Amino acid sequence: MALEANGRARTLLTDRPELYEARFPDPERLAGRWAEDCLRRHGAGPRVLDMGCGTGRDAGRLHAAGRRVTGADLSEPMLAYARTHHPGPEYVRADLHGFDFGAEAFDAVVCLDSALLYCHTNEQLDRFLSSCRRALSPGGLLVAEMRNGAYFLGRTDLLDSPADAEFAWRGVVHRSVTTLTVDRTAQLLRRVRVWSAGDGGEPAEERSAWRLLFPQELRHVLTAHGFEVLELHDGPGPRTEPPWREGLLPGRAADADRLHVVARRSRP
Ligand SMILES: C[S@@+](CC[C@H](N)C(=O)[O-])C[C@H]1O[C@@H](n2cnc3c(N)ncnc32)[C@H](O)[C@@H]1O
Repeated sequence: MALEANGRARTLLTDRPELYEARFPDPERLAGRWAEDCLRRHGAGPRVLDMGCGTGRDAGRLHAAGRRVTGADLSEPMLAYARTHHPGPEYVRADLHGFDFGAEAFDAVVCLDSALLYCHTNEQLDRFLSSCRRALSPGGLLVAEMRNGAYFLGRTDLLDSPADAEFAWRGVVHRSVTTLTVDRTAQLLRRVRVWSAGDGGEPAEERSAWRLLFPQELRHVLTAHGFEVLELHDGPGPRTEPPWREGLLPGRAADADRLHVVARRSRP
């Protein structure tokens, strides 16, 4: 079963959102709480767009914090799941590579767990940032959390050998073997993951890719699109070790494997 040929939203996990939440549990809603902390520390207004919202759990957490949230994703199964399991926000289909919710419709855009890195090309990244700028009120915030491209400079620990993982979901054991490679020309991290389940089904191969964005490149492109970078660091964050918790402030380095950015739309 070839599930993703073009880097778009169809993968085994986005087609089966329950499986996504089982594979990447966040029972303490750390990602949503971290995003809310960024918004609060920088005084963001109530209207939030969660781009690449996935299962809706972060959008739901931001809604619970009192925000007026729109969750947007390209995957219909994700959106259907979000409406049922994390109600409160409005969920709509939209593409990171260019979207239009009207000018100044939001006080903040959040983009979590590497969703921004589905902008593979410079053109896609430019269209994403132009869309964010249009969507944000002057002084509005962009909060994003993703893999750090710079981590792969001089480190091969994630590339050296396939990584095995196993988890149980609805009584069936699912196994995955993941191989990561760096495509230096396209500046992409490519992933091939082969899934097998203990229910006798055919193994499924899933191909994905993420842009390898470097911290100073991100700073440059944000500035070029009329954003002031307020924070750019490798942690603590919701997916760092040790993880972020309330009261911890951002660090200054951008060396470890996650990158966190808070940028403010400059006033016209
Ligand atoms: C790794 S998941 C992250 C989901 C969520 N932000 C979270 O942190 O749990 C990436 C999400 O991006 C979505 N996605 C991928 N390409 C997209 C695109 N071009 N436009 C909008 N969403 C996209 C996928 O459907 C998926 O839900």
